[in-house]
Amino acid sequence: MKINQIIISLAALAIISCGTKQVEEEDMVPKISLQEKEEAVKLLEKNCYSCHAPDNSGPRLAPPMFAVKNHYLDEGTSEKEFVESITAYATNPSEDKSRMPGALNKFGLMPQSNFESDDVRKIAKYLYYGDIKHPNDCGNPDSGSDSTNYLEVGKDAAMQVKSVLGKNLFAAIESSSAEGAVEFCNHKAIELTDSVSVAMNIKVKRVSDKVRNPQNTANAEENLIIQTMKESISSGKKAAPQLIASEDKVTGYYPILTNGMCLQCHGEIIKDIEPLTLGKIGYLYPQDKATGYSENEVRGLFVVEMDVK
Ligand code: HEC
Ligand code: HEC
Repeated sequence: MKINQIIISLAALAIISCGTKQVEEEDMVPKISLQEKEEAVKLLEKNCYSCHAPDNSGPRLAPPMFAVKNHYLDEGTSEKEFVESITAYATNPSEDKSRMPGALNKFGLMPQSNFESDDVRKIAKYLYYGDIKHPNDCGNPDSGSDSTNYLEVGKDAAMQVKSVLGKNLFAAIESSSAEGAVEFCNHKAIELTDSVSVAMNIKVKRVSDKVRNPQNTANAEENLIIQTMKESISSGKKAAPQLIASEDKVTGYYPILTNGMCLQCHGEIIKDIEPLTLGKIGYLYPQDKATGYSENEVRGLFVVEMDVK
């Protein structure tokens, strides 16, 4: 039983090259008006810079826009091609459209948002013609910037919880049986006491779209992420973790996948779950929806909240 098997494998840090040449356009005849520029900057600030910050003042949750621009703009890329490819990605991000596999590995897939295509087109036109800023302290990542890798910190926290839960569950199953372990699951809360978790006020919860305990019900945002991960798995890909930032918090979302062991309590009712176990579950969780799973399915998410320093 591979309780400690790491379910999320992330490639080593991808480095966003600082040496990349910036493509510049010497407009003799302005192709974009001052008014269009101002509008685009406002739209960028409102919709994109919370993750794609142009400098390193806040948490870095996505590559800076100049890096995105460089991956979408080659010599000979027309304005139309550029605008349409940026807009297609931003309005409906997916791994198969990605031109930045390093960023995908480092930050997880860009979350789906409801951006207006027209707004994104305005932004993209500005990116095409405008002089997008390079992070000012590039090459000197320690100069007062937030260089915390939230995806990794959150993953560590989620793995700690997973490992404690897994060990206890395993012990409970060994010492009694699945039906005894059910009661253990019903009572145990996990608190992380390592220094990083305390310093960043890290909170970890488990949520699902098909819950056993109604307290673990995923909210709308979490549900959307679960659905995205399910789609990845069903098309034969990995479920990529994601980060979302608010003003003072970064939240990481990590997939919880099923393995063979889980099926004793979350599998098909007659085939996998023993009658005694089923009885116990039914008694403790009369509204249980968390059955019918097979192996390697998205059972839910670890949601890890981290304070921004
Ligand atoms: C909640 C965070 C977040 C917001 C807000 C956000 N992005 Fe992203 N974006 C990401 C992450 C993470 C990546 C890197 C992973 C990836 O490529 O999907 C990314 C990557 C991209 C890419 C490159 C994708 C590739 O892999 O080729 C484009 C283009 C992009 N974003 C455009 C936008 C635009 C335009 C906006 C604003 C309208 C925006 N993003 C807002 C998180 C965000
Ligand atoms: C011995 C029975 C048992 C086994 C084995 C088991 N679970 Fe559970 N699981 C439970 C119970 C009971 C709960 C409800 C816990 C609570 O009240 O918070 C639960 C809850 C969960 C939740 C929280 C969402 C919800 O439905 O309330 C997730 C996610 C989850 N289990 C995933 C797994 C995974 C993944 C495995 C295999 C690695 C697994 N479980 C193995 C009994 C089990």
